[in-house]
Amino acid sequence: MRVMSIYNMKGGVGKTATAVNLSYLAAASGRRTLIWDLDPQGASSFYFRVKPKVKGGGKKIVRGKSDLDDLIKGTDFPNLDILPADFSYRELDLQFADSKQSRMKKLIAPLRHEYDLIVFDCPPSISELSQQIFRASDLLLVPLLPSTLSIRTLEQIQAFLKKERVTRLELRTFFSMVDRRKTMHREFVEEFAANSKQHLTAGIPYSSAVEKMGLERRPVVEFAPRSAPSAAYRALWDQVASELW
Ligand SMILES: Nc1ncnc2c1ncn2[C@@H]1O[C@H](COP(=O)(O)OP(=O)(O)OP(=O)(O)O)[C@@H](O)[C@H]1O
Ligand SMILES: [Mg+2]
Repeated sequence: MRVMSIYNMKGGVGKTATAVNLSYLAAASGRRTLIWDLDPQGASSFYFRVKPKVKGGGKKIVRGKSDLDDLIKGTDFPNLDILPADFSYRELDLQFADSKQSRMKKLIAPLRHEYDLIVFDCPPSISELSQQIFRASDLLLVPLLPSTLSIRTLEQIQAFLKKERVTRLELRTFFSMVDRRKTMHREFVEEFAANSKQHLTAGIPYSSAVEKMGLERRPVVEFAPRSAPSAAYRALWDQVASELW
């Protein structure tokens, strides 16, 4: 079982759109996949038409008093299950505070017989929960906007991982919401790609088809497979899969 987190401390960069589409593509390629919506906003639960509610909430999960199997729901798609969000997840930081930093890793370990891949859709923060996520993950996939501030945030994340000695984790970046009509975006993307070893070259274009996911409540790769962002998500999935396996 491999564990991938879609993470950035920055909000609104396309984490959930990526988590939803890559989870779908993983499942469609035959990998038994679980997406865990860790964000109390519950956006990926919404996209998969699942109620953002977990019996007993985050507290019981962290204490090991909930069986994760009982909380997991099916989606409309083969091979793809979801552990929904719950509004109580806003307190996960507090609930993990008394645990070892490997608590999350331990909680998901029993799922290894059922899933080939777990995808965490992470809330935008850098916190106790993030520490747990970093230690439970094999791959940290960080969506970046093509902007100087976004790169600055990435550097803060990298510095934090170094300071906390998170070494086992592979970090990969890719660009999200790229507008190739903007010269600045194009130049930024090209220059960054040329200078970063951790960067995946498949970028996701800015597209209203992705925004339509809110109306369709399905992954864009499913309802508009021939659109530009769908082709981009498939290219990204190919690159991510070859990092994971
Ligand atoms: N490639 C794209 N093109 C256009 N709009 C996009 C694209 N990707 C995401 N969006 C839109 O941008 C908004 C934020 O995307 P998303 O929810 O995936 O970001 P996020 O990083 O998960 O946000 P949060 O930090 O709140 O969890 C959403 O309205 C989404 O529809
Ligand atoms: Mg999100």
